[in-house]
Amino acid sequence: MAQPFANFLLSFPIFLILTFTSSAFPHPLSSSFASTEINFWSANVLNKMPEAISKKLSPLTKHESEYYAETISKDNFEADLKFCSLAKLACSAVLDDIKVVKQSYTTRNVYMDNKAIPLEKVDPFSFFRLSILKEGNTIHLSDLKASLPYRAFLPPQIASKITLTSKGIAKIFPESSKEAVGTTLSYCNAAAIKGELKVCPKSLEEMINFSKSALGKNKLLALTSKSTRGSGEELKIEKIKQFDVEKIVACHEMYLPFATYFCHSLPSSRIYSVDFVEPKSGAPVNTVLAMCHMDTSPWPADHVAFQILKFGPGQGEACHWSNEIDLAWIAGGENM
Ligand SMILES: *[C@@H]1O[C@H](CO)[C@@H](O)[C@H](O)[C@H]1NC(C)=O
Repeated sequence: MAQPFANFLLSFPIFLILTFTSSAFPHPLSSSFASTEINFWSANVLNKMPEAISKKLSPLTKHESEYYAETISKDNFEADLKFCSLAKLACSAVLDDIKVVKQSYTTRNVYMDNKAIPLEKVDPFSFFRLSILKEGNTIHLSDLKASLPYRAFLPPQIASKITLTSKGIAKIFPESSKEAVGTTLSYCNAAAIKGELKVCPKSLEEMINFSKSALGKNKLLALTSKSTRGSGEELKIEKIKQFDVEKIVACHEMYLPFATYFCHSLPSSRIYSVDFVEPKSGAPVNTVLAMCHMDTSPWPADHVAFQILKFGPGQGEACHWSNEIDLAWIAGGENM
């Protein structure tokens, strides 16, 4: 194993102690389903689990997980208050959810009908050209705050019994918001664009499995922006690092009653990690991931990126920042 990864692996036991001796997990680690999720992570991913993921590990015990995997197969199963609170799910509809889902995805995805959003409501800094990524440049960072309600992942044995259709979701989660679920499903069920592989994984394990197969590798690295610090501010670019990879899987958080992502691998994309500092004092602010799609020719002509960047499909690259909850997966190994 390459030397730099020894550091990541060494920090693992410390992370476990910190997370699981806390009162948030009353069960011994060995009986919690989270320990299975952590083992799966370390068998497949070379770096430390980002906080965005460790916060969402299932709070169910292994026993509860087995019990509900069986119960959910029964015809009349509905997620009741007890299950939703044990599994830390967001089962009932909150109006704000819908608004948040729309705000956080319309500006950067290729599936939505962007014509519906007036341009003045779109963050003009949400898309940019590669040319602004220069060390020493001062730029306006877009808003990185995602504010979907907190939900944990479901154990895959439970998640696999849920069908990703409006009927399938409504059957198990009758209280969930039809509109918010519908928005999510429009991403999940849209046809792939040319060269794209896509999936909405229903569990952490499924997300890792998809990334492995899309990247064609058994060991992965998970990349994420460090925090939301500096959101919407003028910041100076101190340092830029490009990851030397051919393929990237990007996973965007989506709304369903349990933690879900929309993951896709787009060809001819680049990924950078950008260190930002205060323009005046030079004090460190944040390290943010930037993704650049070099080939925009398969994108729809009315995509919001083209309205902001003022060119058409295939006439230039489109870059965007990634928030701290979204993940990018790359092959683990030689490319750090
Ligand atoms: C992930 O892949 C492993 C190995 O192929 C398989 O055993 C497991 O069932 C998969 N899990 C999910 C949730 O797809």
